[in-house]
Amino acid sequence: MTPDELKSLVRTIPDFPKSGIQFRDITTLIGHGEGFRASVAWLADRVSQSGADAIAGMEARGFIFGAAVASALTLPFIPIRKPGKLPIETIGVDYALEYGSDRLEMDPGCIAAGTTVAIVDDLLATGGTACAATELLRKAGARVETATFVIDLPDLGGGTRLEGCDVRVDALMQFE
Ligand code: PRP
Ligand code: ADE
Repeated sequence: MTPDELKSLVRTIPDFPKSGIQFRDITTLIGHGEGFRASVAWLADRVSQSGADAIAGMEARGFIFGAAVASALTLPFIPIRKPGKLPIETIGVDYALEYGSDRLEMDPGCIAAGTTVAIVDDLLATGGTACAATELLRKAGARVETATFVIDLPDLGGGTRLEGCDVRVDALMQFE
């Protein structure tokens, strides 16, 4: 499938979860078997070119694509979780979103020092989530050089923000 065909599988819901937000919903993309497969294949190809040793994905939508990419490339998957989910002592970072604020946590002992970890998520908006994940992974000893997304919303500046943290950004599609 072409990137334009994949883009046409993403549903746009106006005013969700707040007035003024155009919510780009991947439910319809992953609900299309060939669309989901082709999206994961595109991400996996980009991530494999980066030479990463492991994939990290952020709860919840980042798990859908991150875990699929890790499995496709036979790489370990590192779950970056919303607060209070991990049954161990965690490290965490608070961050702002396009429509609120949240916190990410991870197991500080799950990465061998110097491991190169590629971030995979469904969508890049302000970059708050991916920057928080980068900070956490680096605290845990990882090298983070790339973040790969299905969707980029370039008007929200996430790409520029991530590049400011020395993270290269790539996305399958953009919504202006
Ligand atoms: C969404 C999306 C990204 C993040 C992007 O996650 O899956 O992780 O927002 O926004 P940002 O670039 O402004 O940080 P959300 O926190 O809504 O959680 P979900 O995956 O549980 O739906
Ligand atoms: N996460 C942050 N902004 C979003 C948007 N506009 N659509 C879907 N997920 C998002």
